[in-house]
Amino acid sequence: MTTSRLRILTCLTDTRAEPWVRGLRAALPEAEVEDWAPGAAPADHAVVWAPPQAFIDEQPGLRGLFNIGAGVDALLRLRLPPATRVVRLDDAGMSVQMAEYVCHFLIRHFREFDAYESESRAGRWSYRKPRERKDFAVGVMGLGVLGERVARAVAQFEFPVNGWSRSPKRIDGVRGFAGAAQFDDFLSASRVLVNLLPLTDETHGILNGGTLSKLNDGRPGGYLINVARGAHLVDDDLIPLLDSGQLAGATLDVFDVEPLPAGHAFWSHPKIAVTPHGSARTERDTSIAQIATKIRALDRGEPVAGVVDAKRGY
Ligand code: NAP
Ligand code: GLV
Repeated sequence: MTTSRLRILTCLTDTRAEPWVRGLRAALPEAEVEDWAPGAAPADHAVVWAPPQAFIDEQPGLRGLFNIGAGVDALLRLRLPPATRVVRLDDAGMSVQMAEYVCHFLIRHFREFDAYESESRAGRWSYRKPRERKDFAVGVMGLGVLGERVARAVAQFEFPVNGWSRSPKRIDGVRGFAGAAQFDDFLSASRVLVNLLPLTDETHGILNGGTLSKLNDGRPGGYLINVARGAHLVDDDLIPLLDSGQLAGATLDVFDVEPLPAGHAFWSHPKIAVTPHGSARTERDTSIAQIATKIRALDRGEPVAGVVDAKRGY
């Protein structure tokens, strides 16, 4: 009897495939690993980032589709074979980076370090009046792998922290809100809003004029940190809120179109900090080790963490 060798393809948009192929070959010596080219032989599993529909259509027998990131929105937009399981990365070094990023921009805003930077560039020795952290409640939307870590990290700095999720959660130091019924109360109770929701039909455009105006009990001075997906934000609603002072500023790491097009108003707005979708990068070696472990477990018929519920959208 002949048993065919396990076959794995990579299909990685915007990412160099060669180090992934090399790493996967080392981690799974029992497997044949190749980067996809049209017409490739059928594979058992694929390691992907935003693959084209043509790749999926050619590979109807895939058992596992391993995403090299946490967010699976680009994958779930494709027509996938019903038996193919979509598996996301669990943390793999991303949550600590996300906590660093959010705490950095939160504290930069709260302590007005951006203003200190411009004063020091002008050669001025000037103090600003300290602000009280009790007035800067932070609301974290999404309390999953990344959101929970962020909420806990922010709580360490003694900010009041609110968290919003679909199902109720109990996290030390975090006031929990859940579901659509508690969304407005969550927004009113929060001054700095951190978005860590998955992009789904329910969350598309959730950061808009109506919701952002509710921050801080409707008073001016709210602040937005969007680190999830650009399509959560209605771009055209943000600038008027900033210009009127309703929002004091925004930090944006993700955009509807990436790279953010040259000349887009976000680049030059004085109250917006832009970073190039790098708040939590995929750590290749950690991710390869995680994916290899999951491929073996899946093929032994064991349960694996991070299998996406396509109906729920994350
Ligand atoms: P996750 O583990 O899937 O957690 C998602 C959280 O959102 C859960 O707490 C879930 O509630 C909540 N949620 C989902 N739909 C909701 C709704 N309609 N109303 C209220 N809460 C809802 O996701 P994650 O790993 O933390 O990642 C979150 C997102 O971050 C990813 O989807 C990706 O888009 C983004 N991301 C960005 C970067 C970057 O570099 N910028 C890096 C990694 C990830 P339940 O707990 O009740 O299910
Ligand atoms: C990055 O945006 C990810 O979803 O991992």
